[in-house]
Amino acid sequence: MTHSRIAGTGSYLPTKILSNKDLETMVDTTDEWIFTRTGIRERHIAAPDELTSDLATAAAKNAIESAGINVDEIDLIIVATTTPDKIFPSVATMVQKKIGASNCPAFDIQAVCSGFVYGISIASNFIKAGASKCVLVIGADTFSRITDYTDRSNCILWGDGAGAIILQASQEQGVISTHIHADGNFETMLHVPRKDNGTDTVMMEGSAVFRMAVNTLDQIVDETLAANNMQKSDIDWLVPHQANVRILQATAKKLDMSMDKVVVTVDKHGNTSAASIPLALDTAVRDGRIKRGEVLLMEAFGGGFTWGSALVRY
Ligand SMILES: CC(C)(COP(=O)(O)OP(=O)(O)OC[C@H]1O[C@@H](n2cnc3c(N)ncnc32)[C@H](O)[C@@H]1OP(=O)(O)O)[C@@H](O)C(=O)NCCC(=O)NCCS
Repeated sequence: MTHSRIAGTGSYLPTKILSNKDLETMVDTTDEWIFTRTGIRERHIAAPDELTSDLATAAAKNAIESAGINVDEIDLIIVATTTPDKIFPSVATMVQKKIGASNCPAFDIQAVCSGFVYGISIASNFIKAGASKCVLVIGADTFSRITDYTDRSNCILWGDGAGAIILQASQEQGVISTHIHADGNFETMLHVPRKDNGTDTVMMEGSAVFRMAVNTLDQIVDETLAANNMQKSDIDWLVPHQANVRILQATAKKLDMSMDKVVVTVDKHGNTSAASIPLALDTAVRDGRIKRGEVLLMEAFGGGFTWGSALVRY
């Protein structure tokens, strides 16, 4: 059977930083409240002329370089995003143009904060089916463009960024299993309703979403371990979606894992939606924490609701 392995990782963050102190001048909040409730200190914000596809392209170029492949080898591009440059064409086709990869299929997927886990799942199944050999999977979002900066319970959370991996066909097992779910019954707990004037922004029932996220991620941990007959102690690293450090702590507790085995970037990145897992992965690969052969559990929960996990031997 053909397996798939992560051949390289990359990421990109816009230059501008929006700190909690900056937010204190914009809404009625404090650095202390934000940090205590969320673990966030700062987040990056895209420049006015910087598109989601620009962030995605920069991350993709890093991943291509780290994998040591030629652009021509990429035979599928998947971008997970909720904030495309335009309604169409897709961000994936814009990335294809910007990196100079011609003629391969390219499409976006929209599973909000779970988008990257959905992306790995789709990519590894394309490889398993023999339809692709070298897939560029990107998570990229510019949530600052759909954030209401007068809503203090919401605007403190989001940041912009992009992360990418190259997933290649391999004889060795890299992706061990993926598990993806959705339940549209919770539509209005976390959504961006259409407004006539075009100022569509994120609306969230924060504390209800928080409780749902913790409970659902508990279940996805059990499901992933049971599917592979594995124990909690078999996981070397938790590389979670970065929504709120208290959600990360709850999942670590569920795994009997100390926080130094959890890759935490939410303090510096905020919640970058589909970009958060590949950004965290690339951070910990580049700083030498995550090493080849180690087992990583990636998991996410987001609007829809959608949720899922990917268990990967790096
Ligand atoms: C948004 C979130 C940080 C809010 O934290 P919380 O502890 O649930 O806080 P609450 O919404 O219950 O609000 C508590 C109080 O703080 C106030 N508050 C809200 N935002 C505030 C801010 N930025 N600064 C100061 N006070 C604030 C509220 O008005 C409320 O005041 P009240 O008690 O006088 O009514 C938290 O609910 C959260 O992280 N939710 C889930 C995020 C998530 O996972 N998102 C989606 C998955 S991708």
